[in-house]
Amino acid sequence: MKIQGNTVLITGACSGIGKIMARICLEKGARQLVIWDINESAIDATVQELSPLGKVCGFRADISDPASVDAAYAATRKACGDVDLLINNAGIITNNKSFAEQTDQDIIRTIDINTKGAMFVTLRCLHDMQARGRGHICNITSSAGMLALPKMALYTSSKWASIGWSQSLRIELTREKSPVHVTTIAPYFINTGMFDGIRSFFKIQDPEVVARKAIRAVERDRWYRGIPFSQHFIRLMQGIFPQTWFDFIFGDICGLYTVMDHFKGRQQHHTQQAR
Ligand SMILES: NC(=O)c1ccc[n+]([C@@H]2O[C@H](COP(=O)([O-])OP(=O)(O)OC[C@H]3O[C@@H](n4cnc5c(N)ncnc54)[C@H](O)[C@@H]3O)[C@@H](O)[C@H]2O)c1
Repeated sequence: MKIQGNTVLITGACSGIGKIMARICLEKGARQLVIWDINESAIDATVQELSPLGKVCGFRADISDPASVDAAYAATRKACGDVDLLINNAGIITNNKSFAEQTDQDIIRTIDINTKGAMFVTLRCLHDMQARGRGHICNITSSAGMLALPKMALYTSSKWASIGWSQSLRIELTREKSPVHVTTIAPYFINTGMFDGIRSFFKIQDPEVVARKAIRAVERDRWYRGIPFSQHFIRLMQGIFPQTWFDFIFGDICGLYTVMDHFKGRQQHHTQQAR
């Protein structure tokens, strides 16, 4: 879907790649940008920061709460009209504890935001997109949704589910010859602050580059985009190598299984600038 002339809704757009994708959409001539975030003060600041580039409005939404999603969607429709492109971007990582140390609350929060949140938002937008006969849904998942990684069991499982859901939705809509398209984005670690402290053998990615590639994938109606491209081969590697070899090569030698050992997470919230 072309960005120019369309209304774009991005969840979690007050920080990280969400905020950068928001800026890129405005630069590409989006008719209107709608930002949703749970962080109310960051919404005002982001609207102010991006407004010189085009028409921007923001609404507080907790995507893990269907009532909050309903309220934000109703407010969006009233103030901004129909959504043409939805980018499900909001997501969290709670900690780097082993699974045994997690609490029920950690489990619920991670799955509610990372997995169910995108489904709640999509359900609202999808019905209207289908009725109008046009629309595009882009889901920001993670390559952690294909890799089982220690000390991030909740995050990986939430993203694993998210990839499965996003791809199932894409197949359903494609088989129905629906005019609504779905793009699944699966990036490797990005330097946004969300995973501060991690030590990775593979390059931690520049947020601007990832955001640009994600928007480009939407413009090309791509079904799936791993970022970087090497992420397309994760499942191939898992199929080729016996599990013990895969664990040894990628887990031990490349250090993927210790990547979270020094994780600190975001120390300062929402400090990234879109520029
Ligand atoms: N940073 C990485 O290394 C990385 C790698 C792969 C995938 N991802 C995914 O990309 C997406 C964006 O990551 P980022 O690093 O830019 O994150 P970020 O932490 O910079 O931004 C996330 C945004 O989501 C918002 N948010 C959190 N909970 C919310 C809720 N319940 N309702 C609405 N908004 C909420 C936050 O306030 C924040 O503005 C996430 O889904 C993340 O899982 C990130």
